[in-house]
Parts: sequence; structure tokens; C-alpha cells
Amino acid sequence: MSESLFTSLKIGKKVAPNRIVINAMECCDALPNGDPSPLTYKRYEDYFKGKAGVVVLEAITPQYDYIARKNQLSIKEHNLPALKKFVSHLKAINPETIFLFQITHSGEISNNVYSQRIRVTEEPLAGYEDAKLVREAEIEQVIKDYVLGSRYAYEVGADGVDLKLCHGYLGTQILRPFNKDNWKYGGAWENRRQFAIDIYDRVRLAVNDDNFILGSKISMYEGFPGGVGTMSPDSACMDLTESIDLIKTLEAHGAHYILQSAGSPSHTLDLAHPDRRTPDYAYLHFYFQKICRDNLKPETVVMGSAYSIFRDGKQPFCAVKPENNTLRFWGNKNIKEGVVDAVAIGRQAFADPYLPAKMMEDKDKEVHWCTLCDHCVELLIRQHNCGCATYDKHYTTVYVDMIKAEGKLKAKHT
Ligand SMILES: Cc1cc2nc3c(=O)[nH]c(=O)nc-3n(C[C@H](O)[C@H](O)[C@H](O)COP(=O)(O)O)c2cc1C
Ligand code: SF4
Repeated sequence: MSESLFTSLKIGKKVAPNRIVINAMECCDALPNGDPSPLTYKRYEDYFKGKAGVVVLEAITPQYDYIARKNQLSIKEHNLPALKKFVSHLKAINPETIFLFQITHSGEISNNVYSQRIRVTEEPLAGYEDAKLVREAEIEQVIKDYVLGSRYAYEVGADGVDLKLCHGYLGTQILRPFNKDNWKYGGAWENRRQFAIDIYDRVRLAVNDDNFILGSKISMYEGFPGGVGTMSPDSACMDLTESIDLIKTLEAHGAHYILQSAGSPSHTLDLAHPDRRTPDYAYLHFYFQKICRDNLKPETVVMGSAYSIFRDGKQPFCAVKPENNTLRFWGNKNIKEGVVDAVAIGRQAFADPYLPAKMMEDKDKEVHWCTLCDHCVELLIRQHNCGCATYDKHYTTVYVDMIKAEGKLKAKHT
């Protein structure tokens, strides 16, 4: 198979069989103790049967006090037997797919009904006035949790961890210029990036095995004033100086890959998940991917997000022929031309977890293409079990019942 998408890819010391990555997608369906439920099993069994090169496990929390989702997966001591069983079950289905765990902390966007919110700035970000201000002592505990969660991921058989620094979660809250107070992890860029450095260095010590993959999904530009990738705490102007320094710093501290993203679904959802109204944002992601690719060593893998919108070319883009605007077209072209090394799919993986296998066998006509209706995102926003409400009857019912009971959603922010 000569297509770039279906060539193997070395990540650290491991090799992914192809360059399609299933992006992390949390689905509010863990058991009450944070273990994977039958619904979680079904989702990942399908991903592994579908033969993706890499599957990133949805955001999993190493603590349960600051979480964004009801029924979130957790990685604490009591979860280890269940997670071990989960990983070995999936590896038995398909041993080739690389399995990464995304370790997360929600910080100020934690759900204030199910958990608590913390913030790192005296002045709260608008909308997060109820978050409690924290400093070194609490962040030291966050780092310890990230490190222990990563060690546990290693022990249960994951191939590596994605130390989450994207989409407005705590890692992003610390990195962004809006984290402007002068404290250990605030103010000057060198202080803000130190949080990521401390996590990487301590994870490396806790998991002393070169085979274990380290990397991060990052938002290159969050798209609101003071967000990551802006000029200053109150500027919305894009300035990628810090984002570029971040990826190079992570590489210097052991990152084997960067999973590019942009936006922050709680504030700038369309930038993170381009939809039918804003398909063109996906091209911006290409630009961010190229910036990553150009600034990293060749062996540091760049995975790119936001490819679902391209599907089979049938989307409301202008100025381009549909056949030159498909997921297959852009995946192959961007890999071949050094824009990116692998393409990650989010919603498209809900719509059809078998996409990689079908594309490899040239069965594109059989693919359930994501319609970008975002019903799955609405399920997430309202803390229901998530999945594709268009092609999977179980989630269609969950969605219809939700609309009947709660009405239509007024604003789309996670
Ligand atoms: C229901 C849902 C849950 C998500 N959960 C996560 C998550 O746990 N971690 C993460 O980094 N991104 C998460 N995302 C974002 C996706 O990984 C991806 O970045 C985004 O959907 C854009 O990709 P797409 O256009 O291929 O869907 C989620 C997206 C959706 C729709
Ligand atoms: S619910 Fe809609 S947006 Fe979500 S995966 Fe299904 S088709 Fe795609």
C-alpha cells in the first residue's frame, strides 16, 4: 500500500502500523468508581477492530475532585485491576495499534456541580468567578497526580501517555498569557512553561523505560484574548512565539510527539471542532501543523487534529473541488508534503470507528461519514453518555430523550 496514510510511523521506540489516529474523546460513561463500563468497552473494541494506527484514550483523571464530566474515567489505585484488564482485552483484539492514555486535570472548567473549580489568576477569567484561587502547594499536588497517573498508565500496559496541555484544561490555563500574576508557574513565559517541564521531568523519572511514549496534545492558539498563542494577557492577536517554544521545550524534555490542536471547546468550540458553519477553520489547523513540523526534529512526530470535516469532500467549503477536499486527499497530501506525520480524527471516529480499515480496503463508499451535526457534542455538554446520534441507534435514543426532557441547547460550549 503506497498511500502515505497507510505507511507505518515510528513514535519513540514503537511503530504505529498506519497514520490514522483516533483523537481523545470523553464520553461520560465510566462506572461510578471511574472504571470502564460496558459502553466504554464497546467504543474501544470498535476502535481497535477498526485498525487505527494510534488510539488516544479519552481524558482520564488521576484524581476525582476537579473533573469536567460526570462519569469520567479515573486512574487511581482502585482502578488498576480494571484498567489492566481493559488494556489487555484491547491488545488481544489488535496488538498493533498504539494505545496512549490522556492524563488530564480540568482546573477552572471543572464542573461546579459534580466537583470543584480552581483557578491560577487573582483576576478570574470571565465566567469563572466561582473558581478557588490556588498556588504552588495545590499545583504541586496536581503534578504529583499527573506523575502517579502516568506511572499507573505504564503499569496497566498503556504504550504511553498524552500529558494534556490543550483545550482550556488546567495545563492550558497555566500556559496562557492570561496567567499573568507573578508566582512559581505564572507571569513570565519561563515560569508558565515550567509546569509542563516539571511534569515531563518527573514522569520520566517515575517511568524509567525508553519504550514508554510521552507526548502532549496542545492548542497552538486558543482564539480568545489572553489565550495560548496570543501576544499578551489582554490581546487576541495571534503570536505563536510561546507555542513554538513550548513544543521545542517538550521535545527537549522527552516528548516523542505533539498532537496539534487549537481552540478551547468551552470558549472557542468551532476553532477546536470545525463544523458545518465554520469548515474553513480546519485549514488553520493545517497551518499550525506545519509550524509544529517545521520547528521539531524529524523524529518527533506531529499528529494533526480537526480532519473530520473533510470526510468524502461533501461539505460546504468554497473555492475547491470536492474530490480535492477529502480526508483521504488531505491526509495523504499533508503527510507527503511535510505538513504533518499523522492525522487524528475525533467525531468521524464516533460515526465510523472502522474508517481506517475501510479506507485501507478502498471501501470509502461504505464509510458512515460524520455529518458534523454535533449531536454528540450536545450529549457531552449535557453530561449524557456520548456517541454518534446519527448512525448508532442507542445514542439516537439517548439524544431524542434528552431533547424531549431538556429542550434544545441554547449555546454550544462544553
Ligand atoms: C464528545 C467529544 C469528547 C471529546 N473529548 C476530548 C478529550 O477527552 N480530550 C481531548 O483532548 N479532546 C477531546 N475532544 C476533542 C477531539 O479530540 C478533537 O480534538 C475535536 O473533536 C476535533 O476533531 P474532529 O474535527 O476530528 O472531531 C472531544 C470531542 C468530542 C466531540
Ligand atoms: S452525532 Fe453527528 S457530529 Fe457526532 S459523530 Fe455522529 S454524525 Fe458526527
